[in-house]
Amino acid sequence: SLNDDSLSIIEHLRSVLAIAITTAFPQLSHTPVLLTPSIKFGDYQCNNAMALAKKLKDIGIGKSPRDVATELINSCPVSPRIGKLEVAGPGFINIFLNKDYGVRAITDLLRNGVKPPKVPKKRVLVDFSSPNIAKQMHVGHLRSTIIGESICRLLEFLQHDVIRINHLGDWGTQFGMLIAHLEDRFPNFLNESPPIGDLQAFYKESKKRFDEDEVFKKRAYNAVVALQGGDPNSIKAWQLICDVSRKEFKTIYDRLEINVKERGESFYQSRMLTVVDFLRKQNMLEVDDGREIMWPDESKTGIPLTIVKSDGGFTYDTSDMAAIRHRIEEELCDWLVYVVDSGQSTHFATIFKAAKRCGIFQPKVHRADHVQFGVVLGEDGKKFKTRSGDTVKLADLLDEGMKRSLEQLRSRGRDQVLTPQELLDAQEAVAYGCIKYTDLCHNRISDYVFSFDKMLDDRGNTAVYLLYTYTRICSIARNSGEDFSNLSKILETIDITLTHDKEWKLVSTLLKLHDVLVKCSRDLFLHFLCEFCYEVCTAFAEFYDSCYCIEKNKAGQIVKVNHSRILLCEATAIVLRQCFYILGLKPITKI
Ligand code: ARG
Repeated sequence: SLNDDSLSIIEHLRSVLAIAITTAFPQLSHTPVLLTPSIKFGDYQCNNAMALAKKLKDIGIGKSPRDVATELINSCPVSPRIGKLEVAGPGFINIFLNKDYGVRAITDLLRNGVKPPKVPKKRVLVDFSSPNIAKQMHVGHLRSTIIGESICRLLEFLQHDVIRINHLGDWGTQFGMLIAHLEDRFPNFLNESPPIGDLQAFYKESKKRFDEDEVFKKRAYNAVVALQGGDPNSIKAWQLICDVSRKEFKTIYDRLEINVKERGESFYQSRMLTVVDFLRKQNMLEVDDGREIMWPDESKTGIPLTIVKSDGGFTYDTSDMAAIRHRIEEELCDWLVYVVDSGQSTHFATIFKAAKRCGIFQPKVHRADHVQFGVVLGEDGKKFKTRSGDTVKLADLLDEGMKRSLEQLRSRGRDQVLTPQELLDAQEAVAYGCIKYTDLCHNRISDYVFSFDKMLDDRGNTAVYLLYTYTRICSIARNSGEDFSNLSKILETIDITLTHDKEWKLVSTLLKLHDVLVKCSRDLFLHFLCEFCYEVCTAFAEFYDSCYCIEKNKAGQIVKVNHSRILLCEATAIVLRQCFYILGLKPITKI
């Protein structure tokens, strides 16, 4: 309904204009509404009239686009959110929001916080982070972790039912050599936990033996068979190895406040057996050179999946077929999200098609997204590496961020002003915030260059700029000499007034939050939310430059407090806090 204030503004305007089109031109009632936010004239713009005029001409009705626009305006139902509609240029419709609506919406925001915009509810599984046991968790997994966490937070805020899954690479042939090597290095492993400090080195040693020693290779192979057959000692060895990695991953997750449930490839072992059966029964498998493969579609184009290897073992493809089946048929999800680098796009496209082909995935009911992302580059434009050419350890990267952010805070003399705890909070917020934000603020499809210098810049669309703006906003109420902690109470006596241009600009920017959240969730792009934060901060800066919130006399004493404006500052803080939460930034009040 047009009075439903949980619709985003764009959605609302879309319904208004859809009614207008149907009323004015019933022949063209299914035309999709074209709306954009506008920068100069009005708050939004509708661009339908030109194309409608053309279509009308095709069916023998001659009308100028401007006339079409006028008729649309006359057919718009009354809306509580629209102040004024006006035809411009060749037939654009400029839409001005109703300022009273703005006042109501901001008042509601101050009283109740950000309400989630209304969207159809889904049960969605987000597969993210997903590093591999015994191998390095690299920057690619860091991207998946950061983007995945934010996607979960966004979808949860939109009231979807979200399942967060860490599809850990904890199964597969590499465990054969790891287990065989463990047996040799720590023969007593069943009774006493082996002190494997460096699992990467352990992996390298066993790989070397595997490549060079035929007898060892044979043993490694038998160990896999024993493990997959459920032999208790092999399982024990496998668990010990996994635990070493698990601990390492956990420290990263704790530092970055990542919440994800582990459900590794091993979870699907029995389901791989059943999915293979299922596919065989459906005649989906074809023997090729001793392997059993599955084509993604009848026409046998593209790249087939390897479902059973010639030695009878399963592959990454098999586990993803088992996983997609489990997610749809057992978890009853209707939306599957895989946050994995672009390098795997063929893999996922093939899995989705194959799942469709055998009836697991029904396009009318289910949705699957491969949320892909580009690679992280070093400042030399090449793949991100340490100076010595090794892959960068994530813990080292986070440490480096902490070091750099402390240097920056010190250089600004913040260590002189803040308490040790405040300084540490600021240090973490800046360090982890800038690493996350850099990842999120670019279109995820493109590669990006990892540079602490750029990340820590306090100008432009950076975490540091947003964090500083937020603390500045918080300091305004604090410095007013009055108590702004109970906003509902203040609203009993103070009305918001929007008279200055810059006040309205700030408010109309804040009101776009719902539009932006809906837009981000549509194709799972978070950079729109980052751009929005930046827009809010610049609108705030302009407002603050030209609108006094607190007036002081020459002696520096407060002579007037503009309550309505301070409430606008608080509304801005509320909106930023919500966005920060989704983006994983810590809102700190002192920096
Ligand atoms: N472990 C894999 C890798 O590091 C990513 C797994 C992604 N999820 C999946 N369902 N395939 O490449």
